[in-house]
Amino acid sequence: MGRANKVVLAYSGGVDTSVCIPYLKEEWGVKEVITLAADLGQGDELGPIKEKALTSGAAVSLVVDGKESFVTDYAFPAIKANALYENRYPLSTALARPLIAKMLVDAAAEYEADAVAHGCTGKGNDQVRFDVSIAALDPSIKVLAPAREWGMGREETISYGERFGIPTPVKKSSPYSIDRNLLGRSIEAGPLEDPMTEPLEEVFAMTKAIADTPDEPEYVEIGFEKGVPVSLNGKALAPVALIEELNEIVGKHGYGRIDMIENRVVGIKSREIYEAPALLVLVHAHRDLESLTLTADVTQYKRGLEDTYSHLIYQGLWYSPLKDALDAFIDQTQERVSGVVRVKLFKGNATIVGRRSDKSIYSPDLATYSSDDQFDHKAAEGFIYVWGLPTRVWSEKTRNG
Ligand code: ARG
Repeated sequence: MGRANKVVLAYSGGVDTSVCIPYLKEEWGVKEVITLAADLGQGDELGPIKEKALTSGAAVSLVVDGKESFVTDYAFPAIKANALYENRYPLSTALARPLIAKMLVDAAAEYEADAVAHGCTGKGNDQVRFDVSIAALDPSIKVLAPAREWGMGREETISYGERFGIPTPVKKSSPYSIDRNLLGRSIEAGPLEDPMTEPLEEVFAMTKAIADTPDEPEYVEIGFEKGVPVSLNGKALAPVALIEELNEIVGKHGYGRIDMIENRVVGIKSREIYEAPALLVLVHAHRDLESLTLTADVTQYKRGLEDTYSHLIYQGLWYSPLKDALDAFIDQTQERVSGVVRVKLFKGNATIVGRRSDKSIYSPDLATYSSDDQFDHKAAEGFIYVWGLPTRVWSEKTRNG
């Protein structure tokens, strides 16, 4: 009796997930492996991936286009939350995992599979995100993670695959581990494991080196509707097209790179390089628009929740009651976050240089330093007396010990 009869495997076309197919069948007694490749805009050709799964022994090879849902249901809530893990990483890889988990669970139901599987190892965050998301969506389904148990190194994995007709990777394998989707690229390992080693230009694909960026600045005006980006330079765009177009524009000016040491869920510190041009600009632009449209107290309170929200995404708790409750709060705050943010792109910078909104609560009459000023300066005196009263009393009572 094997560990499961029919398994839906998250499939990327790489050696590890390909080897999972014969491994599940030969070592763990699985009768039927259905592979699922999620198209989240990683730019791979999915035709060959479909074929590869079948030659590696899959009974059914599914390719599911998840781009639209990825942007609308995962990236947009993260933008509304200004989500930046450890204040820097816009969670481009992390956001894909709950969606892939959902696709796996849906396919398992459709094909009446009794388990789902993924090729994650035991050291990363993604295994946590998959396992916890799957458990949240269907607590009765088993999750198999062969690469967490097989104990094979790279060479062994390749030669195991060869026995089952899985071709050795043709090009000399890259020293990096790269994850890519529409929102960004994550690059780690190889020379980057030394935190002091500067990433070579070769690791980047979505952002230009400063030396190769245009010598003239470019402006982009991002339109938001209730916290969600809807247009670029006045042109309404569908979610996927907006991200694609903005990645191009922003990447061309070399903005969107992050080099950080981050704290993984499993307690390990790791050095990761990211590029997420569109997503990073969108978070900053969105946060700016909030400063024009939200009251001080809502802004401040929301900022406190944003870090929690980012941690939930990073730590695999997308499908959780706290996340749902935070979404309800955040959505309420976004009712008036509509308007346009003007961003200047130049030599690796994305500088916010303007913002406007029909819902603005900025009051020029109060803010102005000109004679049009409507602010009652004399009223400040009484306010400061009351505001400072506790400080005054404290000082009076304590200054002599
Ligand atoms: N550290 C990032 C995260 O946990 C990316 C993980 C995948 N990175 C990679 N280079 N394969 O979201």
